[in-house]
Amino acid sequence: MMHSRSLLSMFALAGAIFATPTPPRQAPEYVGYLVSTFSDPTPKVQFHLSNGNDALSFTFLNGGNPVLASDVGTKAVRDIFLATDSARSEYYLIATDLDVRAAGFSWDKATRHGSRGIVVWKSSNLVDWSGPSLQTVEPETAGMVWAPSAVWDDQELLYYVFWASRHYDPSDTEHTGTASLDRIRYATTRDFATFSEPKDYLAPPGIPLIDQEFQYLGKPGAFARFFKDETVGRVYQEVTSDGLFGTWTRLEGYVHSDGQREGAASFADNLTPGLYHLLLDDYTQYIPYETTDIYSQSWKGSNRTGFPSGLKHGSVTPVTQKEYDALIAAYGA
Ligand SMILES: *[C@@H]1O[C@H](CO)[C@@H](O)[C@H](O)[C@H]1NC(C)=O
Repeated sequence: MMHSRSLLSMFALAGAIFATPTPPRQAPEYVGYLVSTFSDPTPKVQFHLSNGNDALSFTFLNGGNPVLASDVGTKAVRDIFLATDSARSEYYLIATDLDVRAAGFSWDKATRHGSRGIVVWKSSNLVDWSGPSLQTVEPETAGMVWAPSAVWDDQELLYYVFWASRHYDPSDTEHTGTASLDRIRYATTRDFATFSEPKDYLAPPGIPLIDQEFQYLGKPGAFARFFKDETVGRVYQEVTSDGLFGTWTRLEGYVHSDGQREGAASFADNLTPGLYHLLLDDYTQYIPYETTDIYSQSWKGSNRTGFPSGLKHGSVTPVTQKEYDALIAAYGA
């Protein structure tokens, strides 16, 4: 029952950054979905695997236990993202290094003196993982590094890594003053061990942004992206047809009207062309949404009957039969 047929790739964003040719988004090799996530009580990497090719029904792998725990940095991880290349020859789990249950924790402290690194695990098969490492990506002017994600570029053969940060004036070495607004930053890397100098990706005037998520839309250069506007606590969407560094158009309003949300994770449906899914964290858990018209403001709530509770800001990866079988063998069903 676990193995129906399917298609498509969310992370074969292959070559799409500069609108170079891209493999078809929907291809018959994808048989399910892997959610990489964490939970508030257990800030460690957790896997949920779809029951067959159902985008809304999942089994908590490893008997409901985490598959990876951090013993670096704050020793807690949030905002889990699974990155892979288009050949599926390497996998990286990357995460925010942040323990909100640490003694003396406050969000003010977390954004002035937070971690300037991301936690990284590497695997060649999705089930045998390296130990965690803490990789610094920002200079000392940064108050924190949150919600990393990555896009593989098939032409340059490297990853573009994105995250949210705020920065203090270089003279304010104790970070006691007023920082810049939260903004989206990026660097490139081939190995998640060395990174290019970080730069601003997006810093719109007056809008503090975190939690960026990209969604490839099936044509070279075509993407949606989602952000949390920290001022209103809501998620909005933009679209482009000319690549991640091209011209983006914001859809009016927000993708949801039902309270505060963050931590978007989007994915294309493996079976139905043009159907996209969006998971939004209501600060307690993920709520699933869907649309068949991603170029308009048309997300609606999905059927939540079989959707697991307690999932937080993470990512969803379409998986091949080989990957699906390896996950079942290693972590049970
Ligand atoms: C919602 O999903 C459940 C199975 O998870 C199904 O039994 C039910 O019919 C669905 N409801 C609707 C309205 O589609």
